[in-house]
Amino acid sequence: MKTVEIKPDIHWVGAVDWAVRDFHGYVTPKGTTYNNYLILDDEVTLVDTVKYDFKRVTVENIMSLVDPSKIKNIVINHIEPDHGSGLARIVALAPDATIYITSKGQKGMERHFDTTGWNFKNVKTGDTLKTGKYTLTFLETPMLHWPDSMMTYIEKAKLLISQDAFGQHLATTERFDDEYMERASHAELDHAVLEYYANILMPFGALIKSKIAEVQKLGLDIDMIAPDHGIIWRKEAGNIIEKYLDLATGKAELGVSIIYDTMWQSTELMTLPLMQGIKDEGVHCKVIKLRATPMSGAITDFWKYRGCLIGSPTLNNILYPSVAEYLTHLRGLRPKNRIMGAFGSYGWGGGAVRDAYEEFKKMKLEMVEPGIQVLYKPSNEDEEKCYDFGREFAKKVVEYHKKF
Ligand code: FEO
Repeated sequence: MKTVEIKPDIHWVGAVDWAVRDFHGYVTPKGTTYNNYLILDDEVTLVDTVKYDFKRVTVENIMSLVDPSKIKNIVINHIEPDHGSGLARIVALAPDATIYITSKGQKGMERHFDTTGWNFKNVKTGDTLKTGKYTLTFLETPMLHWPDSMMTYIEKAKLLISQDAFGQHLATTERFDDEYMERASHAELDHAVLEYYANILMPFGALIKSKIAEVQKLGLDIDMIAPDHGIIWRKEAGNIIEKYLDLATGKAELGVSIIYDTMWQSTELMTLPLMQGIKDEGVHCKVIKLRATPMSGAITDFWKYRGCLIGSPTLNNILYPSVAEYLTHLRGLRPKNRIMGAFGSYGWGGGAVRDAYEEFKKMKLEMVEPGIQVLYKPSNEDEEKCYDFGREFAKKVVEYHKKF
């Protein structure tokens, strides 16, 4: 795509990845973008690079505006390979450029590349770089979401270049939120933000809240937020900060996700009366079969709703493998403020429901115990019990939801 001037003399020079569907295991049905920004000031400055597969794209974009050898400064907000792995190509074209990066970022770069001769300058929060009419201020955001992470604020442009934060995995021809919402919808964009947050940023809620408070305390005047993935926030820059605060505090919809897998449909049959019981209590319910849903989609639906029922058959006295994998992944995301229950079928010893509750305990989540299990296939009586458990669980979800 052609470059786009997002602020006077500040240009998007990134790449749209229409094809990526597996982003280190995270399914990206709508692709993504790798955004980076070129400032054509007295000192030509590039903020961030792109994934190595797209280095030619960003170099051509830069060349359409300026001779890359004129780049005097390169800012690296984040070294993860989807942003940092294009740097070697840029340095080859602008070998005298100074690379502004956190000290942890430099150490990470040195592990990835032969950085001999690269001109690093370590920066920390509050350090500035004057490029001419613009002054860039750096803001470290360690563990949001890597130790090296930082953001770059450009006061005169009221622009925050926020690296991964506030991003979305969307490949689009639009570069701005208002353009995207005009063609697609606000709801689609909201879902993309939720999915990105749930799968990448869920573990960092407390850090996000304190970092946003720090930014608000600094009184930075921001009217545009430009992340390194997806569309740029120019209409809803204020709203996306508020939305992140909501996500960071674990805000959820009043509803229940039933997330399950099944061997011979017995556990699957249990989802029907459970769902009906939840619905009959006036609570929204969504049913998600794990082997029919990408892991990232099932994580998003978990995070969207206040309550979650996990369903698993017992296999060899423990959880079914796909459910065990899901719960392990979920535990790594350190979820908070959700209420859980479990159900499943078994043939003889049982064990899956017990193991699911053990996982919930490790996650320190609220629980409705002891869940429900059926022998082989649910009988009519079992289905009634499932229905009753669905109603009981929904009532507990409503009660718990009032706390937030
Ligand atoms: Fe988009 Fe943490 O990389």
